[in-house]
Amino acid sequence: MSTTWLDFWQNKNEFDNSMSANYAYFLDRVEMYIPLSKTATVLDIGSGPGNLEDAWHNRVGEIHGLDISRRYNEIGRAKHAHHPNVFFHDLPADDYLNFSAVAGQRFDIIIVMSVVQYYRNAAEVEQLLANISQVAAPGAKALICDLIVEEGVLKDMLSILGRSLRQGQFLSMLRLLFRLRFSAYYTVRQKNGFLIIPRQEWLSMCKRLNLNARFVDEPITLQQERQSLLIQF
Ligand SMILES: C[S@@+](CC[C@H](N)C(=O)[O-])C[C@H]1O[C@@H](n2cnc3c(N)ncnc32)[C@H](O)[C@@H]1O
Repeated sequence: MSTTWLDFWQNKNEFDNSMSANYAYFLDRVEMYIPLSKTATVLDIGSGPGNLEDAWHNRVGEIHGLDISRRYNEIGRAKHAHHPNVFFHDLPADDYLNFSAVAGQRFDIIIVMSVVQYYRNAAEVEQLLANISQVAAPGAKALICDLIVEEGVLKDMLSILGRSLRQGQFLSMLRLLFRLRFSAYYTVRQKNGFLIIPRQEWLSMCKRLNLNARFVDEPITLQQERQSLLIQF
């Protein structure tokens, strides 16, 4: 039985098949901020089962996923066994800010999608930003997405339901929310919550690290209150 977010992602869970609806919404919008090219090298931090790799592997030069979940990395490796430009690296679950798996490499595009809310505190997130700036190539863009910047689980749920209705996915989203209510996800969330970092705190962290960052104007994930931070190197 999972008690922390770190355990939760190591086990089979309700998100295994359901992340794709949110991901499709994101994929339709991300290229307004992140232009792709056949030579670009991409780093996907918290890559999960490999949604970004599935969508982009034949549109970029190389794509590297980093995740604490061995299980998701195995799923990703199996799907991409015949794609020599796709890599999944295991992050140590007890040392997930140790990016030695990609040390010495530089990336043109860095994506962190629906991950930061599972970190333990803001100091860890500041270290994540510092890690990103170490692996960013000159001119790189990083997009940190689906950020929870204010309290409001109910508002979050209503927002995702409203948007799903407009996308024609209301029933499947309702089913997912219902399943989540009676799953380990609910228990782990009750115990650990999500990490919430207000917009101003994000901007202060970026200022301390001398990063050129701004929040994007339009929501690019299904949960419309969630924000996305774009960093230009
Ligand atoms: C909601 S899923 C999102 C997966 C993927 N980014 C997507 O949007 O399809 C969260 C992912 O973050 C990973 N994760 C959670 N905490 C992490 C951490 N501290 N470092 C790296 N990955 C983490 C989980 O294992 C899981 O794969």
